[in-house]
Amino acid sequence: MQIHVYDHAQQVGQAAATLLAAQLISKPNSVLGLATGSTPIPTYQALISLYKAGVVDFSSASSFNLDEYVGLPAGHPCSYHSFMREQLFDHVNMPADHIHIPDGNAADPQTECARYDQAITAAGGIDMQVLGIGRNGHIGFNEPADDFTYGTHVVTLAADTIEANARFFKSADEVPRQAVSMGIGNIMAAKCVVLVATGENKAKAVYDTIRGPITPRVPASVLQLHPCCVILTDREAGKLMLEE
Ligand code: PGA
Repeated sequence: MQIHVYDHAQQVGQAAATLLAAQLISKPNSVLGLATGSTPIPTYQALISLYKAGVVDFSSASSFNLDEYVGLPAGHPCSYHSFMREQLFDHVNMPADHIHIPDGNAADPQTECARYDQAITAAGGIDMQVLGIGRNGHIGFNEPADDFTYGTHVVTLAADTIEANARFFKSADEVPRQAVSMGIGNIMAAKCVVLVATGENKAKAVYDTIRGPITPRVPASVLQLHPCCVILTDREAGKLMLEE
């Protein structure tokens, strides 16, 4: 693992965007794995600036998002389809048919999971995967569990995740209880992983990820085994690492 601690969240975003830009410049038809949540927003803003400055071009690139809620219409303002359009896709030139996000409204979720895994394989696998991290150490919606789950699957969200994500909805009651998420195997199969974490409420999850035992109870801890994993944090999220 390579760990970099920056003073501010904006710098974390800038650093992550620089890695993504380098990936796109070295391989224009890169397959990017993308994440939602508050943390990657500065990354996408910096990436949009690089696109507008002519530094990066998404015309040959493609993307696979980590997850989507089950049961929210794709056009719902809190869906991850909407999030990605607003935060990135409406502002860059990635062709619409190169963008992949799990369908949380598929009639048969299991078939959708298998289809998503096949689409990732058919695209040649993910070159660079962006990750946030939950307060409970989740990556994607891989919640603390007894086992690591390999492929894309339907998950029941942890109570902590519902509480954390309630800020995007009118109330916690409106947060969907299930999601379709890439599995730990999908994430580990990415050639390179870039995890961004900002804010003090991520400090313990970051510490446990880097220094703790590798356990499905802290799903991100599996990244200790990834051959190319970069962790970018601000001072607050890196606090327990810095105190050592
Ligand atoms: P956040 O979410 O960036 O909104 O904190 C991260 C996550 O839950 O993976």
